[in-house]
Amino acid sequence: MQDFFEFRLGARVLYKIGLAQEIGYEVERLRQKRALIVADRGVIEAGLLAPVQENLSTSIECVGVFADVPANSSVQAVEAGAALAQECNADLVVAIGGGSCLDTAKCMRILITCGGRLLDYQGYNVLDQPLVPMVAIPTTAGTGSEVTPFAVIHDEQERIKLTFVSPFLVPELAVLDPQLTCTLPPQLTAATAMDALTHAIETFVSTDNNPISDSLALHAIESISNHLRDAMNNGTNIIARGQLLIAACMAGMAFSNSFLGVVHALAHATGGRFPIHHGIANAIFLLPGMQFNSVLVPDRYVRIGHALGVNAGGRSQVEVIVDCINAVRTLMIDCGLPTRLRDVGVPETALEELADIALTDAAIFNNPRPLAREDLLLLLQAAW
Ligand SMILES: [Fe+2]
Repeated sequence: MQDFFEFRLGARVLYKIGLAQEIGYEVERLRQKRALIVADRGVIEAGLLAPVQENLSTSIECVGVFADVPANSSVQAVEAGAALAQECNADLVVAIGGGSCLDTAKCMRILITCGGRLLDYQGYNVLDQPLVPMVAIPTTAGTGSEVTPFAVIHDEQERIKLTFVSPFLVPELAVLDPQLTCTLPPQLTAATAMDALTHAIETFVSTDNNPISDSLALHAIESISNHLRDAMNNGTNIIARGQLLIAACMAGMAFSNSFLGVVHALAHATGGRFPIHHGIANAIFLLPGMQFNSVLVPDRYVRIGHALGVNAGGRSQVEVIVDCINAVRTLMIDCGLPTRLRDVGVPETALEELADIALTDAAIFNNPRPLAREDLLLLLQAAW
């Protein structure tokens, strides 16, 4: 832990089964008049948008729906969505969808409020004013984007992931309704949960860890470990769905303040070059990343092991860490997720370039063990 730390919370968070269908009253309290809804195709096809929109319409005028959000949010989508919002004269953005949808909406607010080109605002703390308010309604339990000051957008031209960081990006209201996650297929349930698990593990070992983030992260690790299999085996298990949604949100709060590490640096680099789900990319790099880092902060991995249910009684630190990493491996195997880069279409010839890109990713600055390019290449080879 550092001598000094800051912990910031922004979004107001509401949780209730069925809440999204009675959210009009809470939205009314934001005192805006014209809402643009941002949703992805999957949300509309699953019939999740219509009841929410119907309830919203009792409290605010819904002036349009932007549904052209790709699986990996893109600069083009952000610009198109912002143009529609301006055309409709929207003064509120309501996003209902997965992390990509929420990140698209977060960045649309930059252009609606500040104008110009999205690329002008990438990086840390470039924004200097509050944005058009936003309500975030996640339909996956993964990114925690509903409470974070981050947005990651794919630059399709340069084939890289752009990161936007500002406290102004935090949505005003986060609506956690596990009912919205019940239609998520098992593989997406697992992939998004792996993103949340990676957030929790990386932030717990981060150089910027602090007791508040620790507590949030450990709860998230324990909860995902306890409930992910249930949510996969029975998608409508509302208790498991609710616990995963809360865990993802808590992990989001934790890494908003304590940041991430090498697993995300490698996942961002790989996701920029190849069309791989962010959660699957994290899952592939998580085990090599844990092995690499556990050498330097073993006591932290013992605590992660405890959260994962590893029995430490009478056993050495090394044995507990091995069991900790194996517990994550078993969870991944149970989820049936791909475990190697070669299985998701990444050729071995790409690894050198991916090491170069990951070396420039801000996520590695908070990794507990310093990394050189050679280390990144070794991790990529281990994951291949
Ligand atoms: Fe992530």
